[in-house]
Amino acid sequence: MTFLITAGPTREPIDPVRYISNRSSGKMGYAIAEAALDAGHDVILISGPVNLVPPRNAKFISVWTSDEMFGAVHQFADSSDICVLCAAVADYKPAQVSPVKIKKRNAEFSLELIPTRDILQSLGLQQDRKFLLVGFAAETDYLEANATKKLGEKNCDIIVANDAHIGMETDENELLILFCDGETKKISRAPKTFLACELVKIFSNSQQKRLTKKM
Ligand code: C5P
Repeated sequence: MTFLITAGPTREPIDPVRYISNRSSGKMGYAIAEAALDAGHDVILISGPVNLVPPRNAKFISVWTSDEMFGAVHQFADSSDICVLCAAVADYKPAQVSPVKIKKRNAEFSLELIPTRDILQSLGLQQDRKFLLVGFAAETDYLEANATKKLGEKNCDIIVANDAHIGMETDENELLILFCDGETKKISRAPKTFLACELVKIFSNSQQKRLTKKM
């Protein structure tokens, strides 16, 4: 099968030297890419800026902004079997990007932000999609409630939820997996490499089941 995986943060420019971003390390997405390759799948890895070496056998697409990630995902989603949107896409971007460095002044300064396009939701809206759609939810509170809401709103097949206090910038995570048929699965705290192997098995099985149901 072909896995499309997004990973890492996005950077939303303010001016030529500044941007808005977040603390995502990309480790979970890269671990899933490695695990999928090890299991014999093809991988398209679309990554924001991170300090990790891309897996050698993946088709690697490097992006910076949410708009670039949106474009790359839409270019390859329909030729993929499983889309795993693990990236921490910025939720807002500056309404305007200054073409020159904004000068420091001794006064308050506010920046107008507008929402970025939701890539996961845009794929969920595709009524006739053939691929399995997996989203991630990193939450600091009400993990299950927030993840359940996301599963519905973004119309995906699976949401993988994790506590942002445990998973951000670390090598470990603890996962709660929510399926669209109401099933849930918990995987206790473990290295991201181990979790990635479990996730790849779960995603491939779910896509196989989904395809058999549709036949
Ligand atoms: O709504 P929230 O950002 O918490 O949802 C997280 C999920 O949505 C992740 O799978 C993330 O990759 C995806 N997402 C996206 N595009 C955005 C924001 C989030 O694909 N603009």
